[in-house]
Amino acid sequence: MKRPWVRQTRADDIPELIALQARVYPAIPPWSRRKLREQLEVFPQGQVVAESEDGIVGCASSMIVMWNDWAESHSWKEITGAGTFEHHNPDGKTLYGAEVFVDPDLQGQGVGHLLYEARRTLCRAMNLKRIIACGRLPGYHRYADEFSAEFYAQKVVWGDLHDQVLSFQIKEGFSYCGVIEDYIPEDEESRGCASIIVWLNPTYNPNLPTLIPEEIPL
Ligand SMILES: CC(C)(COP(=O)(O)OP(=O)(O)OC[C@H]1O[C@@H](n2cnc3c(N)ncnc32)[C@H](O)[C@@H]1OP(=O)(O)O)[C@@H](O)C(=O)NCCC(=O)NCCS
Repeated sequence: MKRPWVRQTRADDIPELIALQARVYPAIPPWSRRKLREQLEVFPQGQVVAESEDGIVGCASSMIVMWNDWAESHSWKEITGAGTFEHHNPDGKTLYGAEVFVDPDLQGQGVGHLLYEARRTLCRAMNLKRIIACGRLPGYHRYADEFSAEFYAQKVVWGDLHDQVLSFQIKEGFSYCGVIEDYIPEDEESRGCASIIVWLNPTYNPNLPTLIPEEIPL
């Protein structure tokens, strides 16, 4: 069977994406069709799906932000405009990872890596300075009675605990920058917490402008 591949998201992917997201997060309400349409209208270049011969198997959605506007504190709802990407700002230098997920039946087989590689390709192609994301900490609930989310994340960074999301992101070359609370309050597994992570684009040239071509080969 052919390995999954990545491509830019299309409007006709929306129903499949919503169904997949509901399987990935049974306890969190999925995006609405309207919000996904808005994301595609606001910043089509930043919306990527992974596809196999059987259909959509993952997605990575991103927007550009002026990071200084959000660095001190923000929630997922605030920065993404509750999923509408209304704060997408092409004058910013930061590609912000708003969502990434992979079909639960295919996790651990490199699809997440393909999606992260696509994000790095976008960042390089647009001459953006970095990718920043706030990653869920889905393993934290197992230790929440014992220690803080910050200490949990540190243990993951030190290699003493494994977290499905943060361990993956570290393997993908991201640096851990600390924990924020109340990022997604409904995210019981992470107890609402998320880790801020960053990847600096080694090819970023501050003397050149941001480029947003209509299509970016992935
Ligand atoms: C986080 C997530 C996107 C990662 O996607 P993924 O497809 O599982 O990621 P990969 O397969 O590329 O890498 C995951 C692990 O599989 C391993 N792996 C990669 N390719 C592999 C292969 N061909 N065979 C076996 N293992 C492989 C990686 O080394 C990695 O190991 P690690 O768990 O020790 O870090 C996915 O787990 C997910 O959708 N989680 C639920 C949604 C979620 O919480 N998203 C994050 C929002 S912030």
